[in-house]
Amino acid sequence: MSETQRTVRTAAVIPAAGRGVRLGPGAPKALRTLSGTPMLVHAVRAMARSRAVSLVVVVAPPGGAAEVRNLLDEHSLPEKTEILVVPGGETRQESVRLGLAVLPDDIGIVLVHDAARPLVPVDTVDAVAAAVRDGAPAVVPALPVADTVKQVEPRTGGEPEPVIGTPERSVLRAVQTPQGFDRATLVEAHEKVGLEGEGATDDAGMAERLGVPVVVVPGHEEAFKVTRPLDLVLAEAVLARRRANDDF
Ligand code: C5P
Repeated sequence: MSETQRTVRTAAVIPAAGRGVRLGPGAPKALRTLSGTPMLVHAVRAMARSRAVSLVVVVAPPGGAAEVRNLLDEHSLPEKTEILVVPGGETRQESVRLGLAVLPDDIGIVLVHDAARPLVPVDTVDAVAAAVRDGAPAVVPALPVADTVKQVEPRTGGEPEPVIGTPERSVLRAVQTPQGFDRATLVEAHEKVGLEGEGATDDAGMAERLGVPVVVVPGHEEAFKVTRPLDLVLAEAVLARRRANDDF
């Protein structure tokens, strides 16, 4: 192990400030429960379970940091892992930036993980962290896409949308989180890449804009994003299977 590997710590930043409107009305998405446990707690456990991760920064809804802190204190979490909670912003990009702002100096590697991907297996987290430790400045877990993807001219109100292209499926990947970065690279991306409107939905995309090489490692089907009501059903099924196999 080199001197750098010994001294550089890894943190996970979990943006959890989204309202999750696509899931329907109710609590903010990260606070919805899966098998009786809030999605955010599953996500924090998924990060803390990795031996690589020594700090987890949870970015709470603006004004909701105290509530999230209490919630985390009510659940058992691995003791080796320090957990900080900070208030988030209007966009995911802003929430990630606010999480990065509180990282201690000795953090050299940062994983950014959506609270909305509560069931990512620890092997995927470890693989992303290891690829950054081995020298890649930006790493994303991803899977081949099952559907053929069309590029369209978007229309509102259910109007038919003109198709303008069909990218070759074999070169497409659906990206997941945690995405891993050399800290300086991610901070620079957040300082220099300003995006209008919704902001960046993907941190690696910001690194790409800086010209930083981004590599893909294999993702996992259980790292899916809980976005729509059917995803809640799938997540419960995954948890039931893990319980049956006693591996969670
Ligand atoms: O909305 P979407 O599913 O793309 O959100 C991805 C992640 O970003 C979620 O974990 C959500 O809580 C987070 N987010 C955030 N701050 C926002 C919007 C989204 O932390 N303002």
